[in-house]
Amino acid sequence: MKQAKTILVVGGAGYIGSHMVGLLGELGVNVVVLDNLSSGHKDAVLHGQFVHGDIADRMLLDKVFSSHRFDAVMHFASFIQVGESVQDPAKYYQNNVVNTLNLLNSMCAHGVDKFIFSSTAAIFGEPQYWPIDESHPKNPINPYGWSKLMIEQALADYHQAYGLRSVCLRYFNAAGAHAEGLLAERHEPETHLIPLVLQAASGRRAQVSVFGRDYPTPDGSCVRDYIHVQDLAQAHWLAVQYLCDGGDSNVFNLGNSQGYSVQEVIEAARQVSLRPIKVVEGPRREGDPAVLVADSSKIKQLLGWQPVFADLKTMVQHAWQAEAKYCC
Ligand code: UFG
Repeated sequence: MKQAKTILVVGGAGYIGSHMVGLLGELGVNVVVLDNLSSGHKDAVLHGQFVHGDIADRMLLDKVFSSHRFDAVMHFASFIQVGESVQDPAKYYQNNVVNTLNLLNSMCAHGVDKFIFSSTAAIFGEPQYWPIDESHPKNPINPYGWSKLMIEQALADYHQAYGLRSVCLRYFNAAGAHAEGLLAERHEPETHLIPLVLQAASGRRAQVSVFGRDYPTPDGSCVRDYIHVQDLAQAHWLAVQYLCDGGDSNVFNLGNSQGYSVQEVIEAARQVSLRPIKVVEGPRREGDPAVLVADSSKIKQLLGWQPVFADLKTMVQHAWQAEAKYCC
């Protein structure tokens, strides 16, 4: 019988990390979660051992790596707000780059050699064509995107020099929530479209703004490629298995290869919630490309990834399960 794997999930109390931990629990994997709870929630950690701490703390990392024999590390503990990264780049370079290197260095020191990295579509910058495949030029237009691209580069170098193998998963727009309602998206403050639209539906928010109506898209609003958070988690699990089976370092774009406009998201939310949603027209948000759609054929072909919840309405439905309880 194969021995159960042991995985360190850094940032496992956050939105995507907690769904990952939920899946690992279902799969019978041993999990240690390390999270500083700066934006995560301890009650979202449904499985495993919880360690409260920061990846900036090398002594703590060394202690964690000395106490367990990890097959792999998954890293979800990043700051993710594009606008904030422009206002306060130091915060992003410190955590997303310096602290991540601290984590990688501690892994190398303890002989842990497999790493799954949460990268982002933001490394591509303004798309030159779409759907965006892995070889699309990388020209980030904000510090958030740069911070992720720097770690992708560091990982390539760490592989060459120290034999640390990694998979970088470049998420497009993570969305939805646990299908059985066990987990939800709980960002504070919330900046993402789907939860904001649903908060306007439940009455927690008076309205939602459409950031720009003059884009070169069919209805003038921005088009994004939404991917269900549980399908994202499944991709991470396939990536771990790939590395454990001896796979080489690799990078994959991760979306549904299907674009939906802001207007279409609002329509889906109206149909799912059966509630009125007040919409106002706002100016463009700085740094928003008109269209971001992934070409995910590589991960489908190489890792056999298949999304289960590819339909936008299903993602909105799962997110609404969590939001509906706030209806006034
Ligand atoms: N939007 C609105 N109104 C809002 C909020 C968002 O119109 O109140 C629009 C945005 O302008 C954008 C779309 O909805 O066109 C989606 O916006 P999100 O903020 O939900 O997501 P982003 O596409 O900006 O960003 C997400 C992640 C980033 C990541 C990026 C990569 O949050 O971390 O995808 O594609 F870098």
